[in-house]
Amino acid sequence: MCGIIGYTGPLEARQILLDGLAGLEYRGYDSAGIALCLENSHIALAKKAGKVKNLKEYCDHHITASTHSGIGHTRWATHGGVSDINAHPHRAGKVTLIHNGIIENYHALTEQFHLQNLLVSQTDSEVAAQTLNQLYTGDPLAAIRDLVKLLEGSYSFCIMFDDQPGSIYAVRNVSPLVAAATHSGSLIASDLTALIPYTREYFVVPEQHIVKLTPYKVHVYHMDDTFSKYYPEIMTVNWNMDAAMKNGFPHFMLKEIHEQPEAMRNTILPRVNKGLPDFSDDHIPDSIFKQCDQVQIIACGTAMHAGMVARAIMQPVLRIPIMVSIASEFRYEEPLIDDKSLVIIISQSGETIDTLAALRLAHQCGSTTLAVVNVKGSTIARESDYVLYTHAGPEIAVASTKAYSVQLAALYMISCRMALVRGKYTPQEAYGFLAQLLDVIPAMETLISRKEQIKKTADHIIKSPDAFFIGRGLDYAFSLEGALKLKEISYIHSEAYAAGELKHGTIALISEQVPVIAIATQEHVYAKTISNIREVKARGAFVILLLKENAVVDEDLADIQLRIPEVSDHFTVFPIAVVLQLIAYYASLAKNLDVDQPRNLAKSVTVE
Ligand code: AGP
Repeated sequence: MCGIIGYTGPLEARQILLDGLAGLEYRGYDSAGIALCLENSHIALAKKAGKVKNLKEYCDHHITASTHSGIGHTRWATHGGVSDINAHPHRAGKVTLIHNGIIENYHALTEQFHLQNLLVSQTDSEVAAQTLNQLYTGDPLAAIRDLVKLLEGSYSFCIMFDDQPGSIYAVRNVSPLVAAATHSGSLIASDLTALIPYTREYFVVPEQHIVKLTPYKVHVYHMDDTFSKYYPEIMTVNWNMDAAMKNGFPHFMLKEIHEQPEAMRNTILPRVNKGLPDFSDDHIPDSIFKQCDQVQIIACGTAMHAGMVARAIMQPVLRIPIMVSIASEFRYEEPLIDDKSLVIIISQSGETIDTLAALRLAHQCGSTTLAVVNVKGSTIARESDYVLYTHAGPEIAVASTKAYSVQLAALYMISCRMALVRGKYTPQEAYGFLAQLLDVIPAMETLISRKEQIKKTADHIIKSPDAFFIGRGLDYAFSLEGALKLKEISYIHSEAYAAGELKHGTIALISEQVPVIAIATQEHVYAKTISNIREVKARGAFVILLLKENAVVDEDLADIQLRIPEVSDHFTVFPIAVVLQLIAYYASLAKNLDVDQPRNLAKSVTVE
């Protein structure tokens, strides 16, 4: 999950690269570096541990010459610690290289090319650079082709050769790359945020093809003996630069929490036809919903939590097995899916490597795949049989918020469409379901407006190194996401627990003032959940109770009550999600942590 950018053209490359890296930093931010081709064809290299601003300060003092081409990289460390020397770009003879991914056979390559005494870093990426340099005899395309034949693993490389000034080469396998030839020059990057300031038209670099950027043209070559030309499909960006800026908010995460109502409308409304869900514009046939005898939902992290909620909604209505799997587990199991299975893949980025591997395994099993993805043209979107794009716009904060809500909206619409075409819903029931889905949007707006009330939970939560989220049924599914949100940005050890299961051991961890965030929005298990809350309260817990506007509860039960507007039980996840996001946001803020770029994380996990 590194950020990659390359530029060659008439403008000042140094500034373009540094600005681009700042926009890509959410992808990985352990260290950063740039390599610039100076006027005399000398390659100037600068790389620093820490944030891009460290690199910029260094460059402001040490690289002031005019430059018109170069490559830049922000790193999320996989091999080798966080240090200047392990930062990219890596120099090896005539080769300068940046890399996103993992070279799995780097040890074998080190042996094969006797690189031991040449390596100065502890990275697999430098092994690739050194190997390429050994293969390079003056023909970049041939050398890159020969390198690729040797590699095992995932990669996207941007490469400069000392004797090819002004040209940048690139090749990818799994790890994403997009490129564009613009009036400002030619650019390539690991995602669109770095290209948007210069162009709205771009193309996705196809895997196993070589790209050559020259100042005004981008050439793509098949990896065949003649390096025949390939002409990629040009795509248009469906959001503007503002969407990738904070626009006055202190953090991307808070901005994206506020963007949820609009993101929900943008995802739902284009697919409502006469009050019913309609995927015809997405080219998703009803047949995939009618013919399947089971549904397998596969994802990671927050996306997987959305799948857990979807399962709780879908199975009682559809009465077929709805399974949810963690992608990194699923891909190594003997999955019980076949040509009658519908596999729903959920991914905000569309590049999560474990989820992509699970998708490919589903295809090997003959299953039909439907992806719910936020990034247009991403690898998972392109490789799935069908794709239902969510329209949340770019999600920059590492902690997913609006993507979760729109994933749920998409899954709820899928559930409704499936129930309709399988005769489990009458059109009236489907109409009513969709109306309730749209009703949650004002409820989300209400909770956003109450953010100051939610903020008061932070001071209590951050006093404890641990926190528990409990609930039953759908509330338990919501609690999974609440625990992840809190832990990933506040570093408080948070655990989601089925409320009824606590007394089977975990309640031993409840002691004086340990925060317990209890979710009680499901009428049919409300009384039981209240009993479980009494159990933790009796042991000194600090209880933050999330419940509906009109729910009846003893005033002394919870230390803090956060009420949500009355929406149908099956739809409470949407306003509850806003509360859980804000609880986590304010806890992180109260601890003065980096809300948008928490330690050890990156936005898109494109390595295993
Ligand atoms: C969510 O807050 C995390 N950033 C992470 O769990 C994320 O949801 C997960 O890595 C899946 O990413 P994807 O949706 O892009 O596949």
